[in-house]
Amino acid sequence: MNTVNSTLVDDLLVELDRTGATPLHRQIEAALRDGIRAGRLRHGASLPSSRRLATELGVSRGVVVEAYDQLVAEGYLTSTPGSYTRVAAVGGQAAAVPPPPQTAGPHIDFGYGRIDPASFPRAAWLRSLRRVLTDAPHSRLNYLDGYGLPELRTALADYLDRVRGTSTDSSQVLITSGYGQAAALIIGVLAGRGARRVAVEDPSTDDVRLLAHLHGLDVVPLPVTGEGIDPAALERADADLVVLTPSHQWPLGGVLPARARREVVRWARARGAVVVEDDYDAEFRYDRAPIGAMQGLAPDVVVYAGSLSKILAPGLRLGWLVVPAHLADAVAEAKLLADRGSPAIEQLAFADFLVRGELDRHLRRMRPVYRRRRDVLLARLAESLPGFEPTGVAAGLHVVVWLPDGMREDDVVAAVAGHGVRVAGVGPYRLAGPGRQGLILGYGGLSEGRITEGVAALAAAVRALRQRR
Ligand SMILES: Cc1ncc(COP(=O)(O)O)c(C=O)c1O
Repeated sequence: MNTVNSTLVDDLLVELDRTGATPLHRQIEAALRDGIRAGRLRHGASLPSSRRLATELGVSRGVVVEAYDQLVAEGYLTSTPGSYTRVAAVGGQAAAVPPPPQTAGPHIDFGYGRIDPASFPRAAWLRSLRRVLTDAPHSRLNYLDGYGLPELRTALADYLDRVRGTSTDSSQVLITSGYGQAAALIIGVLAGRGARRVAVEDPSTDDVRLLAHLHGLDVVPLPVTGEGIDPAALERADADLVVLTPSHQWPLGGVLPARARREVVRWARARGAVVVEDDYDAEFRYDRAPIGAMQGLAPDVVVYAGSLSKILAPGLRLGWLVVPAHLADAVAEAKLLADRGSPAIEQLAFADFLVRGELDRHLRRMRPVYRRRRDVLLARLAESLPGFEPTGVAAGLHVVVWLPDGMREDDVVAAVAGHGVRVAGVGPYRLAGPGRQGLILGYGGLSEGRITEGVAALAAAVRALRQRR
């Protein structure tokens, strides 16, 4: 028989900082996790009921339930309905899984597009996984069609119309393995239908360029000015499709103005061309109201692409396309050929997560976290590198900083690497040769302390560079 080794609330050593940035449930989780790892909370010890701990700590019961659920998900605690929550075998699942091999990497990585993986809502995701594994009909475990599961397509259509201002019929939603696959599918289909030239923003990520080369398409760069591309350049491009990041230009951060959006749509309709809208991190806007997606203006010519990579976690490899009706079957066929469909359990779990409002909750929780990281980055840059000029700061998970005249981004990237800090220059993402010198600083995956350390290292590297000159 299992003895109940009841743990006193005081033994848990949970001290809450109500003024800090860390949510209360995370603080409780951390205190319990530390206690288990240190052996203070022994295997089999039962924890106080969530109600009792909540009363003792002066928090709502939901906060304690969230913390317990998270630790159950991580394998530190076990929970049986109607019984105590207990400490699992030492370290539980967390200790059973060998730690990943340590690879030598930069000490602080300002890589763009990084999220904070420690904030992944494991408990809520696990609840969704449990529910769908319990409830899904057997048929959902069979081979899929190329569109994806109807539960997710419907949930996404509702979400996108509500949050991104799209005009979505679920019959035109396709589930993909992230934006990377979405872009490959749509470019492959359009190339198969005779497209010869793709226009892209300059600078932009290299995904589309590489895909274009693969399919024998010419790439036409469209210079990005303050807010985005100039539609007049698109008129001259003689292109069959254009790939844009209108809500938050990658990497410079501008928002394509309404007039330019209308002109792009007019261009596409007049030419029978397609606009691919990569809406990759639109949910993270800090200083102004979110901008609706272009797709809502023109669902007949815009292919809308979204992804969980920035708003939840890239490791989930889930993304989606909303395509004009005439492209839907062809894209679904291409998806089937590529991988016979994305994993069903994950699709169902994500559908459940969406309809229960968990994505909304997660985004509400993360926006202030990322905003504070951005604010710390901007404040430290202003203090120690006043000649650096940040841009594109209103949204997303990175900022670009323009360098003072005469300073070369390659020199700064190399110098700061010597201090164990990785940053990227804008140059590798330019198509038409060198331009204004700048750095891309991703802050999403770095704590405020690491950001401060990283900027100090950047400032030291810049001082050393100046002295060398
Ligand atoms: C411009 C842009 N769009 C979309 C994505 C998301 O890609 P995926 O969904 O394949 O992870 C990224 C990833 O970094 C990106 O930089």
